Amino acid sequence: MYQIKNFDVNIFLSDYWQKKPLLIKQGFAHFKDPLDENELAGLALESTIDSRVISHTNKKWQVNHGPFDDINKHCKGAWSLLVQAVDQSVPEADELIRAFSFIPHWRMTDLMVSFSNKGAGVGPHIDQYDVFIVQGKGSRRWQVGLPGNYENKIPHPDLKQISEFVPLIDEILEPGDIIYIPPHHPHNGVALDYCMNYSVGFRAPSGQEMLSALSDFTIEQNLFTQRYLDSKIVPRKHPGEIKQQELNQFKKMLHEVIDSTECNQWLATYLSENDRLNKNDEEPFEEYSVDEITQLLNSGHGFIREPGIKAIFIERQDTGNSDFIFYIEGQAFTTPTSSAEFVQNFLNCAVFSSQNVLPQPICMFFAQTLTTLVNSGYWFPE
Ligand code: SIN
Ligand code: CO
Repeated sequence: MYQIKNFDVNIFLSDYWQKKPLLIKQGFAHFKDPLDENELAGLALESTIDSRVISHTNKKWQVNHGPFDDINKHCKGAWSLLVQAVDQSVPEADELIRAFSFIPHWRMTDLMVSFSNKGAGVGPHIDQYDVFIVQGKGSRRWQVGLPGNYENKIPHPDLKQISEFVPLIDEILEPGDIIYIPPHHPHNGVALDYCMNYSVGFRAPSGQEMLSALSDFTIEQNLFTQRYLDSKIVPRKHPGEIKQQELNQFKKMLHEVIDSTECNQWLATYLSENDRLNKNDEEPFEEYSVDEITQLLNSGHGFIREPGIKAIFIERQDTGNSDFIFYIEGQAFTTPTSSAEFVQNFLNCAVFSSQNVLPQPICMFFAQTLTTLVNSGYWFPE
């Protein structure tokens, strides 16, 4: 269980989040790496996992993309192996990312893990998103500066760096130290010996990305197909003129899309999508019936959440008896509002085990929801 120490969430959110970088010395006391470099290299063999080796020798940079048959041939000079979304494959990495749950799950992207040798790093650069970098085994010098107009450098087509910057933080991180870097703050990490780093990233969508996804949704669902109406059209001197009131009428049509209930549900669906690894190559499994799941529950059987699964839901308002809806990876699940509290707690457990028979009717509703989750591949019986 990872828990951040020497850290006040309220002060962090008000004074640092999206504002200032912060070094949290020994945020994780006695830090235990959730995986080692051999397991990381194993993940880089898989075609569904995004991995890279970034290396440099005599100021010449190389970037090679996985999957790697023979990773060693790319590990020349100073090199880092970087693997994305490790929280979706390694339960302990999933546990580590959840220590940052003071930022909501719909804001979290993934846990990127890197393993570097002495002198390695990806060079000075700027990211568009917030990141917490945890130092695992080994040590690394981290420099972080202030946003500014930095000259871009492209030492390799797949690598964006910047010119030198003046560091505001210049520290050697030891195992268990954490550094928080807000968007647009230049940074550079250089490994002092073999070392592991864990980056918890928070990629926020841009307005452009959202609009493009929203328009795909309206097409898929065949929504908002009504056309502009103007039974009260007024005469005008110039036939080319669009009246202010007509512009407003068009904007009203757009507002109706944004203000609709469908749009709330679409937003929650959209925010629950996380480019999950393609699991289609997994063996198809036998589906469970509600009776079978109920029997397993009643016999005190445990259920394990697949690593990387983060359910999200919209803050509940007093809307009477409407169903509780939660979203996982773009899929909506419903359960009666009476079991909402119970289901919300369940969603937070990496391993759920009902030692006692659950109260009726929660047991019945819960068994139905759990059956759907198990058959969707998000939970599995122990
Ligand atoms: C890393 O090399 O582990 C992190 C790279 C970064 O600064 O984003
Ligand atoms: Co970075």
